[in-house]
Formats: sequence, structure tokens, C-alpha cells
Amino acid sequence: MEPRTVTLHDCQFSTYICEEEIIAHISLLARQLDKDYANKNPLFLAVLNGSFMFAADLMKRVSTPCEISFIRLSSYKDMQSTGTVKEVLGLTEDIGGRHVVVLEDIVDTGHTVHGLLQQLQARQPASVEVATLLLKPECLQHQLEVKYVARTIPNDFVVGYGLDYNGLGRNLRDIYKIVS
Ligand code: IMP
Ligand code: MG
Repeated sequence: MEPRTVTLHDCQFSTYICEEEIIAHISLLARQLDKDYANKNPLFLAVLNGSFMFAADLMKRVSTPCEISFIRLSSYKDMQSTGTVKEVLGLTEDIGGRHVVVLEDIVDTGHTVHGLLQQLQARQPASVEVATLLLKPECLQHQLEVKYVARTIPNDFVVGYGLDYNGLGRNLRDIYKIVS
């Protein structure tokens, strides 16, 4: 397929992972989740904004009975000894004793997921795992077990399929990477 480019703010991006490939990876992930969470009524917690497309396409393919809810992380940053931790907003469910699966768009340094897992674990769920659309293994700075990964990518800045560059690009059906 001919590469396509898009300009967002001051940067140019070129097609990288097409929608069909994304969906194929997500379908595999759904099958794995169906197997691992059969009869566990998992609670999926999708982290807004970035994971909205991933969450929708994943949920359509998970067939074991499950629940989904949406959370946000505060944009203000509270400095703690571990680094920059964002507060969880919008978590109204009691997750005590539940099997929780966090849905993320991308894990880069892992700071965000690391902070989020600490806050969720404090509420004593039966289990917490992370399912991410993309993982940049070269960038990971935490000892994190990200059990469910749709696709790993090198250290490139990407947009599309929910991911943004300063607010733009979330609506793109494919994933694009920055033209270096
Ligand atoms: P962290 O470094 O793992 O904490 O990632 C923090 C957040 O940075 C992610 O949830 C994304 O919102 C954003 N991010 C990291 N890499 C990219 C990228 O390549 N494109 C768009 N957003 C990104
Ligand atoms: Mg994000």
C-alpha cells in the first residue's frame, strides 16, 4: 500500500501500522483474555483519552462476560518520592476482590502505568493486569509486567487510533509514525 502522510501542528507523520494489522493483533489479545478470564467477570478499566478506540475494538471481540468502566489520570502532577504520579479520576466502582484489567494506549517509560497500578493495588483487587495496544520496550524504566501487549514498537513517536500529538491525530484509523 502507498504510504500516506499527515501533518499535525508542525510535524509530519507517515502510515506505519494499518487498521487491519491493528485489528488482527487485538483479536489475538481478545482470545487470550477470553481464555485467562473465563468465569472471572473481569472489570476492564480503560484509561481515557488515548485508549478509547483500542477499548472499543477489544471489547467487541471479548466474549467472556465482563464489565468495562473508564478512568482518567489527572493532568496535574504531584511529585512523590517515586517520581511523577498522576491521580486516578472517575473510578466509582469498588474494585475490591475484582479481577481488573487496565486498558492503555501505549506504555513508554512505564511511569504512568506504574503509578496507576500502585493506586489500584491499594484498593485490594483480586488481581490487576495491564493490556496495552503498544509497548516501547526500549523505553521502559520500571520493572513492570505488562502481560497483554497487542504490538511492540521501537522508540518512535506515533499517533492515530486514539493516540495524539498535542490533541490531534486521535481520529486517524491507522497508526502513523513521525517522519524523522
Ligand atoms: P509513559 O512514559 O509510559 O508514562 O507514557 C505516558 C503517556 O505518554 C502515554 O499514556 C501516552 O499518552 C503518551 N505517549 C507515550 N509515547 C507516545 C507516542 O508515541 N505517541 C503518543 N503518545 C505517547
Ligand atoms: Mg495517554
